[in-house]
Amino acid sequence: MSKINGKTIWLTGASSGIGLALAEQLAAEGANLVLTARNEEKLREIANRLPGTHLVLPMDLSRPEKAVNRAEAFLDDIKVDILINNAGISQRSLALETDFEVYRDLMEVNYFSVVALSKLIAPRLVNQGDGHIVTVASVAGKVGSKRRSGYSGAKFAVIGFMDCFRAELADKNVRCLTVCPGFVHTQIAHNALVGDGSALGQADPDNAGGISAAQCAAEIITAIKADKDEIIVGKGLSKAAPVLQRFLPGLVRRMVAKRN
Ligand SMILES: NC(=O)c1ccc[n+]([C@@H]2O[C@H](COP(=O)([O-])OP(=O)(O)OC[C@H]3O[C@@H](n4cnc5c(N)ncnc54)[C@H](OP(=O)(O)O)[C@@H]3O)[C@@H](O)[C@H]2O)c1
Repeated sequence: MSKINGKTIWLTGASSGIGLALAEQLAAEGANLVLTARNEEKLREIANRLPGTHLVLPMDLSRPEKAVNRAEAFLDDIKVDILINNAGISQRSLALETDFEVYRDLMEVNYFSVVALSKLIAPRLVNQGDGHIVTVASVAGKVGSKRRSGYSGAKFAVIGFMDCFRAELADKNVRCLTVCPGFVHTQIAHNALVGDGSALGQADPDNAGGISAAQCAAEIITAIKADKDEIIVGKGLSKAAPVLQRFLPGLVRRMVAKRN
């Protein structure tokens, strides 16, 4: 049976970038989507233009407990087959210049919301005897670099959570895929938080020079179909960084200290 056609997929961060590309490709393959992000208007426009029938579940994932309460009621009689935790927010500020609250916000969206949503859906998947939990982490969750101390911390944490969750669900036919993209051309830098918690509001040449959101989404879907545990997606140095870090950690530390 197809892993996508006819499946109900709850996708967060569906209003932009990788999530929007995932929504387009999953809908084209016959999935029924539950689309989540904060921007309800954008989600409705996307749901209306995609082929098939899709639901919109707007929520702010910087308040995971509230989000879970809302999702519990909304999803009461919906059988979710796949959860894709894709929503995320990045950072572009030096640690010494970043308010503590910014660290909390980065953890809420990039880590605690993933824990909360995964814990909500996993018991259902276990009861169904089948399912998939996918989390879009980052290469920043493997290799730390400047101006991302809060973002990297959250992404390292979420990779650890997914490793443990995968081990605990392995004999229950619930598969856990961790996706670690390098640079992808999306709005991520534009939306990234700076030291006072406001948005950077401009593009970043690293992300602009990355792979397309469509390519990233296609690789994620291929990995779901192939029951992969973890994938690194991207090109060039941002893709090679985790392997380099493993075999030449000193070199990587020197390189990231020199980069801005
Ligand atoms: N682009 C890259 O180079 C790159 C590299 C590695 C990892 N990633 C990861 O890929 C994922 C997708 O990012 P992207 O590159 O596609 O960035 P993006 O274009 O900025 O999209 C981010 C998505 O997350 C949603 N989101 C952000 N804060 C939210 C909140 N508080 N509540 C609910 N939804 C929220 C946004 O929707 P609303 O604004 O409508 O809420 C949007 O749909 C993230 O987890 C990111 O960390 C990206």
